[in-house]
Amino acid sequence: MAKTIAPVAVTLVESKSSLKSANVQVNDVPTSFRLLQQKPTVSVVPPPTDGVRIVTAAEYKEAAACLAEAFAEDDVARYFIDVPDRAHWTEEEKWDLHVEILEYVTYAHILKGLVTTIGDFDAVALWMPPGKNMDDFLTILRSGMWRLNYRLSAEGKRRFFNEFLPLLHDTKHATLGDRDDDSWYLVYIGTKPSGRGKGYARKLIEHVTKQADREGRAVYLESSNEKNPPIYRRFGFEDRRTIHLQRAEKNVQLDIMVREPAAQEKKLGRKP
Ligand SMILES: CC(C)(COP(=O)(O)OP(=O)(O)OC[C@H]1O[C@@H](n2cnc3c(N)ncnc32)[C@H](O)[C@@H]1OP(=O)(O)O)[C@@H](O)C(=O)NCCC(=O)NCCS
Repeated sequence: MAKTIAPVAVTLVESKSSLKSANVQVNDVPTSFRLLQQKPTVSVVPPPTDGVRIVTAAEYKEAAACLAEAFAEDDVARYFIDVPDRAHWTEEEKWDLHVEILEYVTYAHILKGLVTTIGDFDAVALWMPPGKNMDDFLTILRSGMWRLNYRLSAEGKRRFFNEFLPLLHDTKHATLGDRDDDSWYLVYIGTKPSGRGKGYARKLIEHVTKQADREGRAVYLESSNEKNPPIYRRFGFEDRRTIHLQRAEKNVQLDIMVREPAAQEKKLGRKP
């Protein structure tokens, strides 16, 4: 596994919040002195622990197959496939497209993010580390994401490119503000039905949240199933807002959650 040695920013003054509590006007502080808390500017790939391992490019199909199974009935995953202009498709054709989409997304995260698994691909998590994204031309080309232009129907494309992606992008930015490029992003996590309740998701999530705590960084996610927020709350995530995809007969809800780094929680006097 390739590890990045993280350069650190130098601490010159206290953080914005502590300046506030000390009744110091942030604008009184010269910009050049507003380099805040010691924090790696590049994230380190967390070392494998507790049975968690990093998925390689050669394994993208197994990882995607796990996610396809976990998200087989997920309203968001089906939102781009169960469209009126594909009503004539068989379930098999729709399933193949579902798997294909997850293969592209998984491969893109192997290239630009972090993909982890546990057991025999019993659970898989797709992460985007701080400051990273998969929007560049080369990643879209190499991952196969470009094929969605041909594989999705006209309505599927409207839902994916014109509604879903901009909504997710804008919501993340509105929720995290200037931390948008400085937070970990849990893009997907899924445990196969046969592996559920064995602690796999906890291990995959804690693998990165421990790192996020060390770095003093928030972790962001969108939850596509109303059963999940109570599970995520157990890991320290808090509800921030709900958003809706509105092009289907019934709106599809997504819960936006953020986990603040434990150290900061302590500073604020909250329970971790
Ligand atoms: C959500 C999901 C990833 C959880 O995976 P999992 O491997 O079964 O989770 P774990 O066994 O690690 O359990 C994590 C915690 O949630 C709790 N939990 C798990 N399933 C639960 C359920 N159905 N109801 C209530 N609590 C539950 C566990 O008790 C555990 O808490 P604890 O460690 O404090 O005891 C899995 O159910 C899944 O893949 N669902 C379908 C896909 C999906 O919705 N993914 C998330 C999209 S946002």
